[in-house]
Amino acid sequence: MIFYFSGTGNSFYVAKRIKKQIGGEVIDMAEAMGEGEYRYEIEEGEHIGFVFPVYYYGLPTIVREFIEKLELSSYDAVHIYAVVTCGANYGAADRMLKGLLAEKDMHLSAFYGFPTVDNFIFGYDLQNKEEQEQTLKNAEGRLMTIIKSLSLKGKSDKPSTLLERVLTKAVYPIYEKGRNTRNFYADNRCISCNLCEEICPSKAIEMVDGKPKWIKDQCIHCVACINRCPVEAIQYGQSTKKRNRYVHPILK
Ligand SMILES: Cc1cc2nc3c(=O)[nH]c(=O)nc-3n(C[C@H](O)[C@H](O)[C@H](O)COP(=O)(O)O)c2cc1C
Ligand code: SF4
Ligand code: SF4
Repeated sequence: MIFYFSGTGNSFYVAKRIKKQIGGEVIDMAEAMGEGEYRYEIEEGEHIGFVFPVYYYGLPTIVREFIEKLELSSYDAVHIYAVVTCGANYGAADRMLKGLLAEKDMHLSAFYGFPTVDNFIFGYDLQNKEEQEQTLKNAEGRLMTIIKSLSLKGKSDKPSTLLERVLTKAVYPIYEKGRNTRNFYADNRCISCNLCEEICPSKAIEMVDGKPKWIKDQCIHCVACINRCPVEAIQYGQSTKKRNRYVHPILK
């Protein structure tokens, strides 16, 4: 079974590739949460995977909440692994996940970081289309290595260093506390297509008079809306007006 969460498609792509190579049902954690579905039947010896993006060197809040509520029918001899997609560095997300699973008597057997296209449009400009394509191509080798290791129930990446742990401790609280939505708006290019509302994984967009309105308490800053708007009408403050957008080809 492969539990995944994805805003712009990188993690969805990884989950689908793992399914293709080594099998397992693919379950969208956001969708499962929306349906209140937390209990799953597990066969002995089954692989249990978690695939999701790293946010601020830690876990997206939606992934944490899902795992906290998750109930598996059996933990006997299951092999639990995680593949975390990122732009460059996952900090101490491995420790955060390990700790969370340990609270449920689940043992994380393997953890892999998978650097690919960075979608963090709030912070800086993204790669242009050609660079994004090249990054996706270059990342394939690493993905094959991860999948091969998984199929052999292989070893994790090296555990996070002290410096990476310090980094997570310093940066992650910004995400936990500061997920503002007041900077979001749709400019006059908006064609009222409703896509942003439909794709938001945490139901944080409501359409009012044909325009999106953001609900602060629900937004997890996954950047799906801003990157996937078909006419690039969604902005976050002034700086995103000239920035590139990114969506993995699997979602196009
Ligand atoms: C809120 C947010 C925070 C992020 N923080 C990090 C980070 O700490 N380190 C990193 O390498 N990439 C970071 N990224 C980039 C994503 O982890 C990366 O692009 C990921 O593959 C996106 O996955 P998705 O397409 O499945 O949503 C961040 C992205 C977002 C939206
Ligand atoms: S996805 Fe873009 S164009 Fe469509 S409703 Fe949302 S802001 Fe408007
Ligand atoms: S409103 Fe927030 S949670 Fe919803 S798609 Fe946009 S960034 Fe993601």
